[in-house]
Amino acid sequence: MHRHLQHHQHQQHIREPAALLDIAIDDKRHGERRVLHGLRLQLARGEIISLIGASGCGKSSLLNIVAGLDAAYSGAIRLGGLRQRGASGDIGLIFQEPRLFPWLTVAQNIAFADDGANAGRVPALLEQVGLPGYGGNLIKQLSGGQAQRVAIARGLYTHPKILLLDEPFSAVDAFTRMKLQDLLLRVAREHGLTVLLVTHDIDEALYLGDRVVMLEAAGAPPAIFDVGAARPRGQRCRSGAALAPLRSAILDRLHAAQAI
Ligand SMILES: Nc1ncnc2c1ncn2[C@@H]1O[C@H](COP(=O)(O)OP(=O)(O)O)[C@@H](O)[C@H]1O
Ligand SMILES: [Mg+2]
Repeated sequence: MHRHLQHHQHQQHIREPAALLDIAIDDKRHGERRVLHGLRLQLARGEIISLIGASGCGKSSLLNIVAGLDAAYSGAIRLGGLRQRGASGDIGLIFQEPRLFPWLTVAQNIAFADDGANAGRVPALLEQVGLPGYGGNLIKQLSGGQAQRVAIARGLYTHPKILLLDEPFSAVDAFTRMKLQDLLLRVAREHGLTVLLVTHDIDEALYLGDRVVMLEAAGAPPAIFDVGAARPRGQRCRSGAALAPLRSAILDRLHAAQAI
């Protein structure tokens, strides 16, 4: 028994990669324009990374590659050490707009990935995103914030290990936004998710992220700010006194990068 256990641990030691998600993009171009170059980013299991950077610096391009929606790049995306090819249920993607099908119900939208084969999960997911009993509703009956909750439930439907979010809360009002941020933190914890979130809101980046990663010019290594050490996560850090120095360091860097 003891030997067996040792053997098992040894195996795990060999198999377990340092990072759950390993992003290595050698080159990504849109036409003549080189958007990403020599980019390396690793996410530990359960980590939340906020990705920021000037408009057009390649954040969405990066997310699309990681999501498996864009294969026109050189490099590799590895999940648990395994090379990813194409989209997979292991990686969920949530956009700024909910992108729901208006002719389907809430439940049908959530269970779209497998045509409802696991639709039994939908009521629990709706409960988790604060929309219990909404399965039969039509999309047009939802507010913007509710629609984004449905999009989050749909993103969770395939039991992803990774959740990618591209400016997910930019289109909702400030109060809804705070509630959705807390919802994201809760479901990420409950589902043991590893999260890569693009935002242009530095306070959101600091509130949600364990690390803030700032993309700059293609080819330059991203600037990385460690937030986790600077605060306990929770409502209190919205006011952000402890984070103020980090916040101004990020702002300075962002302005310097944009001035180039
Ligand atoms: N499908 C596309 N075709 C051509 N150029 C694109 C395409 N998508 C993005 N780009 C260009 O690539 C650059 C990076 O875009 P994007 O990844 O959307 O940046 P971000 O999300 O950081 O604002 C921009 O200059 C943009 O105009
Ligand atoms: Mg974008």
